[in-house]
Amino acid sequence: MPIGKMKKHKEMLKHPVLRRYLPETHWMTDSRTLRMLKAYSSVFIKPNHGSGGSGIIRAKRLKKGYEVRCGSSRKVVGSHSVLKVIKSYRKTKHRYLVQKGLRLAKYHGVIFDIRIYLQKPAGKWMIAGTAARVAAPHKFVTNYLKGGHAAPLSTVLLSLTGNNQSKVDAYHRKINKLSIAIAKIINKRHSIRELGVDLAIDKKGRIWIIEANSHPGHMLFTQLPDQTMIRTIMRNKQLIRG
Ligand SMILES: Nc1ncnc2c1ncn2[C@@H]1O[C@H](COP(=O)(O)OP(=O)(O)O)[C@@H](O)[C@H]1O
Ligand SMILES: [Mg+2]
Repeated sequence: MPIGKMKKHKEMLKHPVLRRYLPETHWMTDSRTLRMLKAYSSVFIKPNHGSGGSGIIRAKRLKKGYEVRCGSSRKVVGSHSVLKVIKSYRKTKHRYLVQKGLRLAKYHGVIFDIRIYLQKPAGKWMIAGTAARVAAPHKFVTNYLKGGHAAPLSTVLLSLTGNNQSKVDAYHRKINKLSIAIAKIINKRHSIRELGVDLAIDKKGRIWIIEANSHPGHMLFTQLPDQTMIRTIMRNKQLIRG
């Protein structure tokens, strides 16, 4: 069974540097959800063992009431029934987390986040692939399985920074450093040799850690115009299998 989201979140929280990049996250309860809805303009509710963007619920504050979305369903409700509607989207078998919603930066008018593919083919963690994941139109998740597509990270960062190469370089350095630190922290408690890290950049340009996946998919990287990363990933997979 893959490691749950909360367990990995707590492991990262212990790290003095990583903790600054983690959005506020709790086990979902009625009172915490209501408090988070008051504190933030949007809130994400996720199954602890979810993947591929499945089952994620987003509640967003409107001038009056809330918009609650899950998959392709969308409801606009008053504040008195927001909790009831959120709960109607939950699957009974799962435990859920409630997390501060981030206002993701956009690329050509569409939200994106970042996937880093890390591998440990020998004794050391390396970054085998990096890509921006651009959401399908009107989706609030960027996952490949939900229609998200890959774009070269440098291209997207150049666009975000208005072609400021030194800002792009600084983002790359920060992203690489964070990802390696995440892999090392998760690897302390779990014997893993691959990790997919989801990072986000918000509208203010701030970097956030969304989650780390111990069973990352590699299909995203087949979509990049340059096949170097997918070749590296596949070669490392062979080394890891032994
Ligand atoms: N707190 C958040 N704020 C904004 N967007 C989020 C947040 N959490 C998740 N998302 C979006 O939903 C996607 C899926 O969430 P994630 O936690 O990675 O779950 P999964 O395991 O299903 O991939 C993310 O890649 C991101 O696009
Ligand atoms: Mg994810």
